[in-house]
Amino acid sequence: MDLKNLKINGARLKNTLEKMAAIGGTPGGGVHRLALSDEDRQARDLFIKWLREIDLEVTVDEMGNIFGRRSGENEKWPAVISGSHIDSQPKGGRFDGILGVMGALEVMRTIQENRIKTRRPLMIVNWTNEEGSRFSPAMVGSGVWTGKIDREWAYAREDIQGKKFGEELKRIGYKGQKKAEKWPVQAYFELHIEQGPILEKISHRIGVPKGIIGISWYDVWLEGKANQVGPTPMEGRNDALCAAAEMILKVEGLPGKMGGNMVATVGEIHNYPNSRNIIPGQVRFTIDMRSWNDELVTKGWENLRQDLTTLAARRGCQVRYEEVWKVKHAPFAESLVVRVKEIAEGLGYPSHGMISGAGHDATYMSQVAPTAMIFVPSIGGRSHVEVENTKWEDCEAGANVLLHCVLQSANE
Ligand code: GLV
Ligand code: MN
Ligand code: MN
Repeated sequence: MDLKNLKINGARLKNTLEKMAAIGGTPGGGVHRLALSDEDRQARDLFIKWLREIDLEVTVDEMGNIFGRRSGENEKWPAVISGSHIDSQPKGGRFDGILGVMGALEVMRTIQENRIKTRRPLMIVNWTNEEGSRFSPAMVGSGVWTGKIDREWAYAREDIQGKKFGEELKRIGYKGQKKAEKWPVQAYFELHIEQGPILEKISHRIGVPKGIIGISWYDVWLEGKANQVGPTPMEGRNDALCAAAEMILKVEGLPGKMGGNMVATVGEIHNYPNSRNIIPGQVRFTIDMRSWNDELVTKGWENLRQDLTTLAARRGCQVRYEEVWKVKHAPFAESLVVRVKEIAEGLGYPSHGMISGAGHDATYMSQVAPTAMIFVPSIGGRSHVEVENTKWEDCEAGANVLLHCVLQSANE
């Protein structure tokens, strides 16, 4: 058949995404499918059933990464891989991650039903714990697979209830036998929603990121002095939460202070003992800092750390910092970025070059293999929330671009 005219089945992709959205679906129209939860297991089980239905060879590695493989004419040649993640944010959206996995599945179904032979093997992947919200950090499955994160360290990470990553992985039945270790990859493609406002604003269907910004995560631990709120005068208190409040505003002000080309956010805070009539004695909060310019993040952190330390001293609180995670900005393979753009335009979809502000497994993959991503518009630029949405025809367009990227790379 003439490969040029090959298209994925948009209705089938929609149906597949709707079935997945029901697993962990929330009353607000989103998805709550935290890494290694029962919902994650249920979605994985369904994904594997679908992989087997099209005769893919399924493997699960020791990090719970799931691979589906289709043979190529040259079995020993490096494979073309595409995928993303099944896990979601707490009360997150129906597209983040899952579009890239189900898009890759739709591509594979299309190739399979048309009995298309490829020179290289093709693979789909679901990476474990991309979001990093139940177990920090993010992109742990791809991080271990690419050799950038230590496996035992990953297993020992704890959620807020003290449950360990490794034990939860075993509990849901996804601690596989196969070593999580990279092998030669011809190309890695990840289809994803943009998660920002640009594509919708300019009415372009396909975003072509040239890479992903660098991300640094820190935890800040504050120790003040808990006490009865009534008899304790306002003077002389060591209120850890008030110290945190001032610190959070410092974080917000940091990008402006550093010249703007970065973002900084406190998204998670834990206050102890969290009672209305106890002066807060302990607080832990998170900091997420991002920029394309890695040095700006490093300098920004030095600057911020000084400010936070001064603030803690002024309020008589002890402060401790932990660098949880750091990834540098990740430029993609130029030849693949051009390929995504040319294929999009060839299919009649206007495309737009950009930088990804969101983190993706493509960050780690770009360090070991030629990598590129395909973005589709997010309605209202909203993501990591229940109202996250993308038009079905845009999902279809993105999957068509993925299909032809995969086929081109698989036949080179
Ligand atoms: C992942 O979704 C991130 O950008 O933090
Ligand atoms: Mn994602
Ligand atoms: Mn996400």
